[in-house]
Amino acid sequence: MTDTTRLGDRVAIVTGAASGIGRATAQRLAADGARVACLDRAPGVAETAAGIVAGGGTAIALEADVTDQASTEAAVARAEAELGGPAQVLVNVAGVLRFAHAHEMSVADWDLMVDVNLKGPWLMARAVIPSMLEHGGAIVNVASSAGMFGQAYNAGYCASKGGVVLLTKALAWEYVNRGIRCNAIAPGGVETPMIEAIDFPADMDWTLIGKNTAPGNRMLDPSQPAALIAFLVSDEADGITGTVVPIDLGITC
Ligand SMILES: NC(=O)c1ccc[n+]([C@@H]2O[C@H](COP(=O)([O-])OP(=O)(O)OC[C@H]3O[C@@H](n4cnc5c(N)ncnc54)[C@H](O)[C@@H]3O)[C@@H](O)[C@H]2O)c1
Repeated sequence: MTDTTRLGDRVAIVTGAASGIGRATAQRLAADGARVACLDRAPGVAETAAGIVAGGGTAIALEADVTDQASTEAAVARAEAELGGPAQVLVNVAGVLRFAHAHEMSVADWDLMVDVNLKGPWLMARAVIPSMLEHGGAIVNVASSAGMFGQAYNAGYCASKGGVVLLTKALAWEYVNRGIRCNAIAPGGVETPMIEAIDFPADMDWTLIGKNTAPGNRMLDPSQPAALIAFLVSDEADGITGTVVPIDLGITC
């Protein structure tokens, strides 16, 4: 259930908002009353913002690269100036996934995953925390079930998402007395372009992959993690910080 007063007109920044979970999160936070800065390096982010505005919400599109410090700082400054308030919500959704045998994965793919999935959330947090120290705030990072257990052919992604789990806890504890909450969600399979584009190694052992997926290969809709995120950034979750909430149809239970 959406509630247009739930987020009280706060400025929210959502990365990865051109697609999948990020787009669904931007739409959900707007439906819950936030003024949303939809950030992505892909131009499709304009479509996300336009759709929100067409539906009566408030949103702007920001083309930015979460791996680049200057780009993240400029994006946060634009979000605050154009939406007319301090950023009080940050949702780090942008991510990339490349499967390969660990001994064959290119250094470029490793660096890309660690940069986008792990350094990106830290750079974004670094850019919003000064505002949040003055006005309060909530951060949610999108980790993964791949950050909770080891997955074959996925070493770089697992390492980056495991890092997101501990980044989340470190930020939560450091700012616990300073008005900033930080949580993560750990989705299992969600039906998005990322999953449709998975390219497994040709000679992989499929028996190692079973534990990654829910029985019957059931997948979540992006609106489901978006709803969990909307709860975690809301005042209803005021007592929750430093947690990693699985949303994975039980694969980590
Ligand atoms: N889909 C799943 O099953 C699943 C499961 C667990 C976790 N996740 C995580 O959820 C998040 C969203 O994934 P999705 O499935 O919606 O994927 P997606 O590919 O649909 O969306 C990812 C978005 O991130 C953006 N992005 C990539 N690099 C960027 C950069 N440097 N700067 C700014 N934006 C950048 C892309 O342009 C894209 O719009 C990711 O962090 C992913 O790892 C997804």
